Amino acid sequence: MKLFIGLATLASVAFADITFNVVGYPSVAAGSFGVSIAGTVHKLATNEAIFPVWSGAVPGTTSAVEYSYVELNGQGAAVKSEAFVRKLANQTDTSTLNEFFERPTTVWEVPKLPYTYLATYPSKTKAFKQKQIATIHVTAPATQIAEMNANPMNDKEYKVNFRFINSKTIHSQTNITFSTSGKSSKEFSKQAFKFEFDTQFNQTFFSRPNIKLRSMVNDPTMMREKLYIDMLNSVGVPTQQGAWVRLFVNNEPFGLYLMVDDIKKSFAKQTIHSGDPAVIRGSLVQMNAWINKADLVYKGATTAIYDADAYKSRNLGNNPTTDPLKELISFMADLESFNPTATPDPVNYWNSNRLDLEGYLRCMALEYLMGGFDMYWYSGSNYFMYKNPTLAPNGGKWQWIPTDMDNTFGSGFPTSTVPTYRTYADFTTLGARPLVQKLILENTQINAMFDQTLKEIISTAFKPEALTPRAEAYHRMLALDAAWDYSLKRKSPGTNRNFTIEDFNGNLYNNTRSMQGGVLSWVHDMSSLVSKELAFTIPQGLADRVAPPPKKGQEGNPEDEEDNDFDSELTNGPGGRSNANALFSKSGLFIQTAFASMIALVLIL
Ligand SMILES: *[C@@H]1O[C@H](CO)[C@@H](O)[C@H](O)[C@H]1NC(C)=O
Ligand SMILES: *[C@@H]1O[C@H](CO)[C@@H](O)[C@H](O)[C@H]1NC(C)=O
Ligand SMILES: *[C@@H]1O[C@H](CO)[C@@H](O)[C@H](O)[C@H]1NC(C)=O
Ligand SMILES: *[C@@H]1O[C@H](CO)[C@@H](O)[C@H](O)[C@H]1NC(C)=O
Ligand SMILES: *[C@@H]1O[C@H](CO)[C@@H](O)[C@H](O)[C@H]1NC(C)=O
Repeated sequence: MKLFIGLATLASVAFADITFNVVGYPSVAAGSFGVSIAGTVHKLATNEAIFPVWSGAVPGTTSAVEYSYVELNGQGAAVKSEAFVRKLANQTDTSTLNEFFERPTTVWEVPKLPYTYLATYPSKTKAFKQKQIATIHVTAPATQIAEMNANPMNDKEYKVNFRFINSKTIHSQTNITFSTSGKSSKEFSKQAFKFEFDTQFNQTFFSRPNIKLRSMVNDPTMMREKLYIDMLNSVGVPTQQGAWVRLFVNNEPFGLYLMVDDIKKSFAKQTIHSGDPAVIRGSLVQMNAWINKADLVYKGATTAIYDADAYKSRNLGNNPTTDPLKELISFMADLESFNPTATPDPVNYWNSNRLDLEGYLRCMALEYLMGGFDMYWYSGSNYFMYKNPTLAPNGGKWQWIPTDMDNTFGSGFPTSTVPTYRTYADFTTLGARPLVQKLILENTQINAMFDQTLKEIISTAFKPEALTPRAEAYHRMLALDAAWDYSLKRKSPGTNRNFTIEDFNGNLYNNTRSMQGGVLSWVHDMSSLVSKELAFTIPQGLADRVAPPPKKGQEGNPEDEEDNDFDSELTNGPGGRSNANALFSKSGLFIQTAFASMIALVLIL
């Protein structure tokens, strides 16, 4: 028997009854989802504005309800039921979170990492919630997606419809630019992707208009880059933030990804300047090693002399259009003429108006500690430099911004043991790295600062006591989605490293297969190696060395879940309205009459 409850009835009882929201893709086109309560299955509804969220209020339920979600076939019969029972997180809730089918936990506990240095805050955003895995639902003409999958190297951009679903938010945008991303990432059968939201066309994504989905194909634990981001946050270096997402394109599963900021001009505003629109942004240059390395060796006075693949201007700043690297070249010329043993007051020489020296030393300390062998020190690659006008008078000074931190914690590291930082990289074979050699290795004062930096980072955050609880929490949080990811058939040509859930489990602790280090054994080995070399004992405890400052203006702490921003969206969940009600309250998303009746119905089977 099917009982149809009309719109008017539902609206009058919605706040007394519980609204259920499951995120799910039915295995057959005509399939659907329902919620099972005390042996009765209640069918949930979806529509073009919320799919793959299935929603509905069930009359007579209270916040004490125990329930499971059920997948239904085209005839409405249950084909798959969740093997566990859910409860509301909070007895004051009248609506569930958006809960992914067959994932028992939606919001996780993640222990904090202590702050080593004064925190820097990006602007508030809902994009990077730390304690949940959001779902990204992309739709586009099938022929275009087939073409993209088959030809990841062609760098072609596609226009897609985009929907982001986290526990309390459904954010939909149309006509978003989507493409495969990266360079070596394109050689893998699981592609990396990027999204570009055109703010000129009022496309929004929580103040983060440039987003990359990192495929994590070289990291069986899927957490290396995220832990590196956490460490950068701990040492107060402005960095790409990140959160894991599941990606579906045209209802097909593509896998688990780490969504991060793509570093473009908007990153300088939102992350380095905390969203402050008043700052006139300086020069931003992207560095990469492909044929030539971005070694910062001075080679001549004009942009044309430098390999355009190694140094790419991403924001012109005060440079002339005809010579976009002019300011960076002037920095390289200063580095060339810097005499590490004879320059009076070398710290001030750099720190007063050339380089954010402390930030740079923290970045280099992390490259070494985390075995970031495809970054600057070892490979002359994977970083940005930003001439931050707020850090010094008369145009500012250069700030170091690392990127692509997946090949770390022993992933792909060229040797099985890590030597002291003094001999870690052999510059006679790797080529010159003057910003490491002249400052960190050859200048006494800056070298002492570097040692102190290593010591403070290891004493506070880069130690097993601090990183183990966080890494183990991530491991629990990702386990089901990693297993799901490894079970998927890949869409593109290219290498598949064929990692398994055994690698996911084992490499958290130990070396496995082609991995030179396990995440936590790496932390243990490196922290104890450096503590022996610099002759200090790693203190116990998880206290912040420097407490984070209060937030000002639009600032948001990446660790906080409660930050709001001002993008329009559909909202449901605790304290909010149900999806069904929200649909009628947002003029921009008003649903046509065909859906209006459908969404308010709860079908009781
Ligand atoms: C439950 O929700 C209320 C209202 O939103 C909130 O004030 C309270 O902190 C929540 N309790 C828990 C345990 O999350
Ligand atoms: C899609 O966005 C692009 C700019 O990114 C614009 O040129 C185009 O007109 C838009 N198309 C539609 C259908 O809105
Ligand atoms: C963007 O929004 C503004 C303000 O609502 C409007 O004036 C403008 O026409 C919109 N631009 C586009 C391309 O839709
Ligand atoms: C992964 O498995 C496939 C199929 O068995 C195989 O062809 C491929 O060589 C494997 N990849 C690696 C890196 O071993
Ligand atoms: C992996 O690490 C765990 C925990 O440190 C240890 O108990 C175990 O013996 C290790 N296994 C291997 C195969 O090394």
